[in-house]
Amino acid sequence: MQALLLPLTARFFVLTSVVAIAVILLFADLDGYSSIYVVIPLILFTVLALIGIHDIIQTRHAVLRNYPLMAHIRFILEEIRPEIRQYFLESEKDGTPFSRDKRALVYQRAKKALDKRPFGTQNDVYASGYEWLDHSMAPKSVVKEPFRVVIGGPDCSKPYSASIFNISAMSFGALSPNAIRALNIGAKKGDFAHDTGEGGYSPYHRENGGDIIWEIGSGYFSCRKADGTFCAEKFAAHAKSGQIKMVELKLSQGAKPGHGGVLPGAKVSAEIAATRGVPEGVDCISPSRHSAFSTPIEMMQFIATMRKLSGGKPTGFKLCIGHPWEFLAVCKAMLETEIYPDFIVVDGKEGGTGAAPLEFTDHLGMPLREGLNFVHNALIGINARDRIKLGAAGKIISAFDIARVMALGADWCNSARGFMFALGCIQSQSCHTDKCPTGVSTQDKVRQRALVVPDKGERVFNFQRATVEALAELVAAAGLDHPTQFSPAHFSRRVSPNEVKSFTELYPTLTPGELLAGTSDRRFETSWAMASAKEFRALPRAASPVRLKAPGLSLIPA
Ligand SMILES: Cc1cc2nc3c(=O)[nH]c(=O)nc-3n(C[C@H](O)[C@H](O)[C@H](O)COP(=O)(O)O)c2cc1C
Ligand code: SF4
Repeated sequence: MQALLLPLTARFFVLTSVVAIAVILLFADLDGYSSIYVVIPLILFTVLALIGIHDIIQTRHAVLRNYPLMAHIRFILEEIRPEIRQYFLESEKDGTPFSRDKRALVYQRAKKALDKRPFGTQNDVYASGYEWLDHSMAPKSVVKEPFRVVIGGPDCSKPYSASIFNISAMSFGALSPNAIRALNIGAKKGDFAHDTGEGGYSPYHRENGGDIIWEIGSGYFSCRKADGTFCAEKFAAHAKSGQIKMVELKLSQGAKPGHGGVLPGAKVSAEIAATRGVPEGVDCISPSRHSAFSTPIEMMQFIATMRKLSGGKPTGFKLCIGHPWEFLAVCKAMLETEIYPDFIVVDGKEGGTGAAPLEFTDHLGMPLREGLNFVHNALIGINARDRIKLGAAGKIISAFDIARVMALGADWCNSARGFMFALGCIQSQSCHTDKCPTGVSTQDKVRQRALVVPDKGERVFNFQRATVEALAELVAAAGLDHPTQFSPAHFSRRVSPNEVKSFTELYPTLTPGELLAGTSDRRFETSWAMASAKEFRALPRAASPVRLKAPGLSLIPA
């Protein structure tokens, strides 16, 4: 009885009505009323009725089985929810990962449009976490110089004078050929660097001659043997190119540390296969760990090999900090082998990616400011800070973002998503679907057409230049001459409604050589004891559980 009444329930009402109308129209048609006013609605309602019946018998979507036809509205609304939120509901400070305000800043600077704001800040300056730069009573004049930093320690024979604001690693594969071309045009025009990402050194990187940082990940793309291991000959052949200014070993990135990657076979086009040195149409795997080394000492030896094969170019590595003792193990390996990288790029947990599991993007890895300051202090603690330059990446968009990380130890900054916005990215967050609406992150040839290379190359150049100019204004307002002079003493953070702390308190600095002399700083003491140059794992004798206390990374034995 209940089953017989089912078509009359509210849940099935729409389907029942559609079927009823279809039947009435069918009879009308049979009775000879075969005008288009009957036939077209008949076709429409018959299709709807068939969809509704299919909804009831399909087994994938429970909600469709219970609410045939009606539940499709839910799916449609789910689909357009991000757009509705972005276009109608989002305020200037809303929107993640980047607020509307931040995105607008990039678009305005990229288009050379007015980038000023009227009427005062929209930030709540009394909210916990609010941060500011202290200005000087005697500001300096704004300098026009482009702010550069020389990268290359004593073992490097070809130091590179880098801009302090560069394009972070993003692979050809994650980005479209047109996006790579436009980024490199901007880099060439503005004399800043463009990092290839781990997807290899492609023809699109080469076309326009902008400075390249060649990144080598665990897949050794563009320099691998058939079995996927590192090929020294191929590496040397590319690395000696005059366009490549530095070579970078990638250990991890903040958005997915410890996670490898797979580019599905369907996306491995002939071009991607040729660039990476992998078979076309076959899943292309980046393992989660390197095969070229397995201990900190071997890692330093590999760095020395890369430097030698590149003809003495600055050689470094990129990572997001995880277990502190592992980075300290690398420091011990530097001391033991006397091989030092020329640079280290610290990526923050908050960094971006083309695709990663939610658990990794949300909860693995150390945020940039803590990670950077930890690396900066560790190098001070082993007396190596003056020979290793530090790069930083992680949601760096504005001049204030640059100034703040330079105060915490960075010598230069990289931005990935900032430059994606300059390319026209609208933060639709469908990079992993190959359906990028702006042609930035798709391999679909038709969608790529949306990105007009000369126009976007100009925008990349404009964004970088306007940001560095804004930084020059901050430097002057703080009474300084160069952004490298920013120090923790220049920044403050409200930590509670009634308390403000200087960065000097929040991020205390080690004294030179303090780790070598035996530190009692609780952020480092236990981890330093646990670190071994011979293995990444913690030393068993010191392997007591530790608890990480923020802020300031105190490592307190539990
Ligand atoms: C689309 C995309 C692709 C990326 N590909 C790489 C990569 O190949 N290698 C790498 O080290 N980092 C990669 N990253 C991470 C960035 O280089 C950068 O470290 C991180 O996104 C932080 O910068 P952001 O906050 O400015 O985006 C990628 C990021 C994005 C958004
Ligand atoms: S527009 Fe959307 S899909 Fe394209 S790069 Fe930006 S976030 Fe990714």
